[in-house]
Amino acid sequence: MTHTTLPSLLTYFKETVQQTNIHLSVKKSIDRLLASTPSWPALTIGDLVAPTPIIQGGMGVGISLSGLASAVANAGGIGVIAANGIGLMEKGYFQDGQAANIRALRSEIKKARSLTDGIIGVNIMVAISDFDQFLAVCIEERVDLIFLGAGLPIKGMPVTQLREANIKVVPIVSSARAASMIFRMWEKLYNDIPDAIVVEGPKAGGHLGFTAEQLDDPAYQIERLVVEVVDALRPFESSRGSAIPVIAAGGVYSGADIHRLLCLGASAVQMGTRFVATKECDADIHFKEAYIKARKEDIGLIDSPVGMIGRAIRNRFITDSEAGLRPAFRCAYQCLSSCKAQEAHYCISIALNNARKGTMESGFVFAGTNAYRIKRIVAVADLVDELLVGYQRAALGRLTRLLRRFERLKADYATIEAQVASLASVYEELILRSLPEQAKRAKAHYRRACLGLERIRLALGETIAQGAALMKA
Ligand SMILES: Cc1cc2nc3c(=O)[nH]c(=O)nc-3n(C[C@H](O)[C@H](O)[C@H](O)COP(=O)(O)O)c2cc1C
Repeated sequence: MTHTTLPSLLTYFKETVQQTNIHLSVKKSIDRLLASTPSWPALTIGDLVAPTPIIQGGMGVGISLSGLASAVANAGGIGVIAANGIGLMEKGYFQDGQAANIRALRSEIKKARSLTDGIIGVNIMVAISDFDQFLAVCIEERVDLIFLGAGLPIKGMPVTQLREANIKVVPIVSSARAASMIFRMWEKLYNDIPDAIVVEGPKAGGHLGFTAEQLDDPAYQIERLVVEVVDALRPFESSRGSAIPVIAAGGVYSGADIHRLLCLGASAVQMGTRFVATKECDADIHFKEAYIKARKEDIGLIDSPVGMIGRAIRNRFITDSEAGLRPAFRCAYQCLSSCKAQEAHYCISIALNNARKGTMESGFVFAGTNAYRIKRIVAVADLVDELLVGYQRAALGRLTRLLRRFERLKADYATIEAQVASLASVYEELILRSLPEQAKRAKAHYRRACLGLERIRLALGETIAQGAALMKA
C-alpha cells in the first residue's frame, strides 16, 4: 500500500497504532480456548450423528457381534457387527452355510437393536459369496450403515434399495486411488456416491490391502493416506455440496493418535485391536488374553488363504500350516470363490471361529501392530473415557504450544510497535523542519516497520485460527 500524501500516511499510521491492541483480543481468545475443555467433534454421516468419533471396526469371525457393537454404540460411537463367517455360530452351518449366515446376521442385528438406541453398522467383505444375501438382510433390518471392505463395492450394488432403507454406505480402502475410483464409478453407474470412507493403513489387524514391502514404506502410512484421501474426495464434496467424512484406521491406539489424525483432516477413526480387549467383546476370554500375553515380536504376518496378507499373533497353528503340517480338512462351504484354503492347509473361517471360541491350538488371532501394548481388559465405556482424556491432553498440549508462540509474537510486536511510533515522530519532526530528503528516508523505514507489524498481526491471526480449529478438531 502506498501513501502519496501526508494525510493518508498519517491516517494509516493512526489506524496501525489503534490496531496494536489486536494482540489483546487474540490473547483473550486463546485464554478462552485454554479455559474450556476441548472435546472431540461428533461424527456426522448424513442424518447420523455419533457424539464419539470412533467406529469400532467390524471383526470377524464372531469377534464383533451384538455385544461389542451395542456397547460401542452406547458409548456414543458406531458399533459394527462383522458378517463374515457369522453363520459358523449357528447349528446348521455345515448343512446350509448361506441359510446359517443369513439367520445369524439377522439375529445379531436384532439383538444389537434391543441393546442400544445408538448407531449400528454391519461390515461385509465384498468378495464373499453371500455378499448379496448379507446386503439383503441389512436392508430388511434397516441397519444404519454398511462397511464394505476387501474389494471395491462398485458393480451390482442395490443402491436404490439401500437409499430407500436410509442405509449409509461406507467403503473401506487402502489408497486415494481406490477411493476416487469407487466414487467416480458410483457417479457413473448410480448417479450417487457413498456417504463416507474408511481408509485403513498398514498397521491394522486382520487382512491388509498392501504388499509386505509397502507396510513400512512412509508413502503408505495412515498419516499420508488420510491427507491423500481427503484431497481425492474434495471434488465429490463440491458436487454433493456437503462433507464426505474420511475415517482413519490402522494402528490407532491412544487419544493422542485420534487427535493427530483429526488434525490431519480425518473426521473420525476406526479401531479394532483396542476393542478386542474389552469385557463386551464377543470373543472367548482366551482370545482376549492372547492380546494381553502377546509380545511385540509375536505380532506378524500371514499369507491368508483369501489371497491377501494379514496381521496376526503368530502361533503354532500358523507355523504348522506354513510347514504343511496341518491335517487335511474338508471345505464345508465355499464362502469365498477365490479362497485357496487347500494350499494354505486350513480354512480361515474355521480357524478364526476356533480362536473365537477359545480353542487357540486350532486357530489364531488377528491383531494390529499395537496389540502388545494392551495390558488389561476393560469395559468399552472406560476405554472410550480413556481415549477422550488422551485426546483432551493432546489438544491442550497443542494449545499450550500455540500460546507460547503467541507470547513470542506478542513480544516481537511490542518491539516493532515502539519502533513504528518512534519512526513516526522522527518523520513528523523532519517534515516540520522542512528536511524532505531525510523525511523520505524516515518514511521508508517507517513503512518497513509497519510491514513488520502487519506480518506479526497476520501470524497472530493464524495462531488464533489454529487454536479455534483445534477446538473444533
Ligand atoms: C480380530 C480382528 C478381526 C478383523 N476382522 C475384520 C473383518 O472381518 N472385516 C474387516 O473389514 N476388517 C476386519 N478387521 C479390521 C478392523 O475392522 C479394523 O479396521 C482394524 O482392526 C483397525 O486397525 P487396529 O486393529 O490397529 O485398530 C479385523 C481386525 C481384527 C483385529
